Amino acid sequence: MKGIVLSGGSGTRLYPMTRAANKQLLPVYNKPMVYYPLSTLMLAGCREILLVVNPQDEASYRRLFGDGRQWGLAIDYAVQPTPGGIAEVFLVGRRFIGGDRVGLILGDNMFYGDALPAMAERGMRGQGAVIYAYWVSDPRAYGVVEFDAGGRPVGIVEKPEAPRSNWAVTGLYFYDADVCDIAAGLPRSGRGELEITDVNARYLKEGRLSVEKMGRGYAWLDTGTPSSLLRAAQFVETVEDRQGLQIGCPEEVAWRKGYIDDSGLAELIEPIRDSEYGKYLQRLLARG
Ligand code: TTP
Repeated sequence: MKGIVLSGGSGTRLYPMTRAANKQLLPVYNKPMVYYPLSTLMLAGCREILLVVNPQDEASYRRLFGDGRQWGLAIDYAVQPTPGGIAEVFLVGRRFIGGDRVGLILGDNMFYGDALPAMAERGMRGQGAVIYAYWVSDPRAYGVVEFDAGGRPVGIVEKPEAPRSNWAVTGLYFYDADVCDIAAGLPRSGRGELEITDVNARYLKEGRLSVEKMGRGYAWLDTGTPSSLLRAAQFVETVEDRQGLQIGCPEEVAWRKGYIDDSGLAELIEPIRDSEYGKYLQRLLARG
């Protein structure tokens, strides 16, 4: 199954942190930000992964992930020449998608929750577009979904000044292969971008959009501003310290899902034995 991690963008809200480093390579507590969304796609069952990156960052991402074989994945790369909007991913990634259903996750989005794997698997196995809505105190910075009395989505609006609900669209989406044609036929928005909200609005109009509500048992964090980046790091540190279990650890997901076996995990541990991360993986191997 195929998934795309969108890891480009300009990261202007995080300047000067993002002057020399791509946002998704910045740390969230103890690992690069992009580890979290990648792990979420892996939990959804995606093993063929496309990283969409800025031209100047391709080498860094290749250094980080290689071809993915070490984690039982096939990772490929596509360059987005300039940040022209989230839905541009379907032009850049068209060849990768081919005729298959595809998952898309934003490289700066973090999801956490016991039932997340099942929820994401449902999206992967679903039809048309499956997206997720999360109740936030201030939805004005997001796409916002309006539901009718029966809980069916009836409207979706990008960054509304007067939101019709508190249900924000998260950065995890699943689409049929025809999403490439839909994106290719869209006009650019006022800010010159191909908008993912326009893609979703199109599926809604065609009666092919499912919106799953992510309830209170989930955390959805984004990391686009200095405060939200710090809060995300504190969240990860709090949960990991309390449980002794890591969030967003691709090696662990690969091992638990059987993409790599004990000896594969042991090989990954060898060069990083003395790091905290390496010690965590050693504990996994010893105790399961
Ligand atoms: P945004 O946070 O909307 O944009 P940004 O990352 O450029 O940051 P800023 O607003 O501070 O300038 O992007 C959401 C995610 O999508 C993020 O992970 C980066 C990614 N992205 C791309 O890869 N390409 C794009 O063209 C855009 C707009 C975003």
